[in-house]
Amino acid sequence: MKKQPTRFNVRLEMEYRKSPVAADRGDIIVAIDVLRCSSSIVTALANGAEEVIPAISLGKARSLAKAHRAVLAGERKGIKPEGFQLGNSPLEFKRTVVEGRTVVLTTTSGTKAIILGKKARGMLVGSFLNLEATATLCLRLARASRSGVSLVTAGTGGAFSLEDFLCAGAISSRLIQHNAMLDDGCWASAHAWIDARSNLRSVIREGFHAKRLDSIHFSDDVDFCARMNVFDIAAVLRDNRIVAVKP
Ligand code: MLT
Repeated sequence: MKKQPTRFNVRLEMEYRKSPVAADRGDIIVAIDVLRCSSSIVTALANGAEEVIPAISLGKARSLAKAHRAVLAGERKGIKPEGFQLGNSPLEFKRTVVEGRTVVLTTTSGTKAIILGKKARGMLVGSFLNLEATATLCLRLARASRSGVSLVTAGTGGAFSLEDFLCAGAISSRLIQHNAMLDDGCWASAHAWIDARSNLRSVIREGFHAKRLDSIHFSDDVDFCARMNVFDIAAVLRDNRIVAVKP
């Protein structure tokens, strides 16, 4: 009889503050902030950035950038802070700007989801842009370490975020094909994903965060971040730095 692969739990945590809970459980975390932190990190790495260092505060970001001679990037209320080289638009992380460089990034929620969960057994940064690569590496890590997976959606200002929920659903629906045991949140997200996938961009545009980005003239970011599998790299946290890994 053919041996079934080991089953593993997949849970949904719908706020960045839940990252430490997932880490304490011993899970592999996938931190998801489609608009826009995850998408910016993945784009920077795909465009040749050596590493992205997440920073918890503006002050910490400034000092890290100085110490590493890094590109200083981030946002507060969606806008580039005073003295920063880049904001948090993935369109700004061009090859000409980031190739071969360290990027230090601080954002309102996304970088917090990563930093607060840094003690996790493994930490991936997931987005639609690198969905397949993220799911593939996540599966491999969960099997190798015999641990569960937590999909931590960063949310928007502490609130539920539609696009992050859909991205968690897309990852859940891949993991379920490999013997994953989804919790109710993951099941709900997978059903929402199946409903939304043929019309992803328009569905994301219905959400609060996309409308807020529209209102501050970052409408193109929403279109950019709503594309699937543009980059074949996973983004993995190692020693407080996020690096690209081929799955
Ligand atoms: C965040 O981390 O809160 C977001 O990435 C905000 C943004 O859209 O810039």
